[in-house]
Order: sequence, then C-alpha cells, then structure tokens
Amino acid sequence: MSTLYDIINVPHPSLKAVANPIDSVTNDIRKQMDTMLATMYDAPGIGLAANQVDILNRVLVMDLAGTDEKKNPICMANPEIIYESEEMSVMEEGCLSIPHQAAEVERPAIVRVKYLDYNGNPAELEAEGLLSHCVQHEIDHLNGTLFIDYLSSLKRNMILKKVEKLKKQNLI
Ligand code: NI
Repeated sequence: MSTLYDIINVPHPSLKAVANPIDSVTNDIRKQMDTMLATMYDAPGIGLAANQVDILNRVLVMDLAGTDEKKNPICMANPEIIYESEEMSVMEEGCLSIPHQAAEVERPAIVRVKYLDYNGNPAELEAEGLLSHCVQHEIDHLNGTLFIDYLSSLKRNMILKKVEKLKKQNLI
C-alpha cells in the first residue's frame, strides 16, 4: 500500500499559486505522478493537479475511465494549451479541493495540449467533451485558477461558505 497525499481544500494559498515548470521527468517526478494517481483514485476523482497536494510544480494526472472500466491514466508535466476552439462547451464541474460543490463552467469545446508524458517524452493530446473540461480545469490549477473563479462573486462566495460550513461540521 503506497502512501497517499493529503488533498488541500479552499482557501489554502497553494490553490492560488502558480506552479513552476519542471526541468525533466525524473524518477522523483514519476513517483509523484504515481502517488498523485493513487490519491486521485482513492478520493475518487478524475483529475488532480500538483497544487492540490501542496506541491508547486507543473504536474497533473487524469483518468476518465469508469469504475468498472480498465484504468486509463494520463500523466502530464509542463502541459501547455496550443490550440483552443472558438466553439464553447458548458459542463458541470466539481473539484476535490472544493468538496461536494459543483457548477456549470463554459470553456473552449476542443483543446490541443502539448506536454511531457510519464516517460519524459513530448506528447500531444486533443481533447473534447469531458476530457477537454478536465484537462483545462487541471491546467487552470497549475496557474492558481479554480472553477469557481469563472462564477459570479455571489455564487463563488456561496460555495466557499458552504465548504467552510462542511469543515466546521467536520464533514470534510
Ligand atoms: Ni479541481
């Protein structure tokens, strides 16, 4: 049984920080990716960015496979959006750092992302639908942006208050 990271919640300052690029995908980074994946599966969630486990480097993991499906992990270091469609997409999003809250977020429908993969090789991913929302959401984390930052301040504050309340009740 591998050790898991603790996932931090709003309003932790690391969630507002811009993460630093890595030089290369070393064994330490691969170990971080493995532990992030294990932490994400345990949560459970479909995406996790390094900021959410209080590590400020540009690493994220995702897996959109259903619980009955074979695992399909995607690990990215230094991800960069190199294309986004003009067409937009609206989907409900949640976040492991904003527990039990969700809201509709509008984003470019299709994006192309370049990154370094688990083996340190340059790779590209074209994403649409849920995967597109997920990869944009996770890259946002690396830039200190949360999905609630796209909402009105009224809605955002309501969500933050609800999380605060859950914390006080020791429910998260
Ligand atoms: Ni999130």
